[in-house]
Amino acid sequence: MYISNNPNNELEQSIVQVPDLVQIPDEIHEMAQKFQEAMMMYTCAIREVKTKLEVLNDELSVKNRRNPIEMIKSRVKKPKSIVEKLKRRGLPLTLESIVKNLDDVAGIRVICSFLDDIYEVADMLTRQDDVKLVAVKDYIKKPKENGYRSYHLIVEIPVFFSDKKQPMRVEVQIRTIAMDFWASLDHQLKYKKEFIDSEDVERQLKECADVIAGTDMQMLAIRKNIESKGIEVRK
Ligand code: GTP
Ligand code: MG
Repeated sequence: MYISNNPNNELEQSIVQVPDLVQIPDEIHEMAQKFQEAMMMYTCAIREVKTKLEVLNDELSVKNRRNPIEMIKSRVKKPKSIVEKLKRRGLPLTLESIVKNLDDVAGIRVICSFLDDIYEVADMLTRQDDVKLVAVKDYIKKPKENGYRSYHLIVEIPVFFSDKKQPMRVEVQIRTIAMDFWASLDHQLKYKKEFIDSEDVERQLKECADVIAGTDMQMLAIRKNIESKGIEVRK
């Protein structure tokens, strides 16, 4: 875009006054670099755990002729969500605080076919001798009041970098396709709505969660029945 040479042109004056380069103080630059490095390390931790899960899925699909894992999704928590969580918990907004206090900066979601696959995958993963189990939340045996179901693990694994072996924490959420369907829609319906002050909505969502849980059990029973009778399902 061309700007007129008229010295009275306010836009031109404001452009002229902008310094050529905005100087970023060294300490901010250093902090940003350290943050970026930490996020890279979390990304690598995700890759390590994801590979372990893919290996298990490949092995079981050959042994059992079916895949226990339908899909694996992952994410590194966004800076905005990291800051919000630290503020919400009244924790310092520093890199040290993130590493020490947040277990879900690296997150993996494993979508399984059947209910029993969840526990089998979780067991096989945590039995590996370089995987340290930090915490378990079984929202399947004890669903949340709103009907949310999923199996959550916090695991710590070593990641090998050029000059160090770094233990890294990863949150692994394991659930069935049906549980994921409910959680995704629940999240979509509530996302960014500060509050849903409607008991009716909560009740309906809970009802859906319970129906879905029943269907999950039925699907497992059907599979077990097929397996016990050695029925070959025609393709
Ligand atoms: P966060 O601060 O949300 O991380 O909770 P938390 O640290 O107490 O951990 P928790 O294991 O209870 O939940 C962790 C994650 O599970 C959330 O970030 C969501 O991804 C998922 N989650 C938990 N409750 C719900 C729910 O009611 N609905 C949906 N859609 N997802 C949920
Ligand atoms: Mg979380």
